Amino acid sequence: MKNIVILSGAGVSAESGISTFRDSGGLWEQYKIEEVATPEAWENNPQKVQTFYNLRRKQILEVKPNEAHFLIAKLESRFHVNVITQNIDDLHERAGSTNVLHLHGNIRYAKSSGPNQEVNYYPVEGWGLKMSDLCPDGYPLRPHVVWFGESVPMMDKAAELIAEADILIVIGTSLQVYPAAGLVYMTPRQCQKFIIDPGINERDIPSDYTLIKKSASLGMKHLMEQVLF
Ligand code: APR
Repeated sequence: MKNIVILSGAGVSAESGISTFRDSGGLWEQYKIEEVATPEAWENNPQKVQTFYNLRRKQILEVKPNEAHFLIAKLESRFHVNVITQNIDDLHERAGSTNVLHLHGNIRYAKSSGPNQEVNYYPVEGWGLKMSDLCPDGYPLRPHVVWFGESVPMMDKAAELIAEADILIVIGTSLQVYPAAGLVYMTPRQCQKFIIDPGINERDIPSDYTLIKKSASLGMKHLMEQVLF
């Protein structure tokens, strides 16, 4: 079986009703990154950060996977599939994908805000994490997400998966955020490479990628009907 790797971003969840970050009207127009998504933000105003991610978690619990998530899960009937997602939602898993690596964490989980953060992840019941919710060492729990300025612990594992890819499908990401965006350059030479995105410009993507300028669901449908199945 051929190895397919999916590298997904916010655009794959857009059709589920979750807004992306950098499109017009996106989340980073409504919030300042430095006030809600950095270690300094947590130091200065942890309640504001907690509330921001509680709202994200609440919305994620209210929405459903869309056709793109389901088509990606369906690839497993013919291929060995690994999904590397920058998304903190769990919509790939809820659609049935079985190998999902969360590069930027998973909002359904919390971790300690003290030392040894990557040792244990705690499932969050419902959507609201409170500052009084503590890890066993007594530190407040924070969302299990990677903030700007933090290292990306799953990066090495992601690079290993990309290095084994026969086919890489990059879907719904502006490729603006590193180190994740660097993964598109780490494929083996014979890998077939596609980008599905209705908004990205051909000149902004590496020249050896085939651009499918469609929404995540239509792009996946096109790729499966015309190329993969
Ligand atoms: N289908 C597919 N792609 C879409 C759709 C859609 N329906 N709608 C928008 N897009 C595309 C946009 O054209 C854009 O290229 O999705 C991309 C979204 O880009 P960003 O908002 O920058 O999201 P992403 O690339 O996932 O951001 C990376 O930045 O803020 C951090 O940690 C956060 O994981 C996130 C990272």
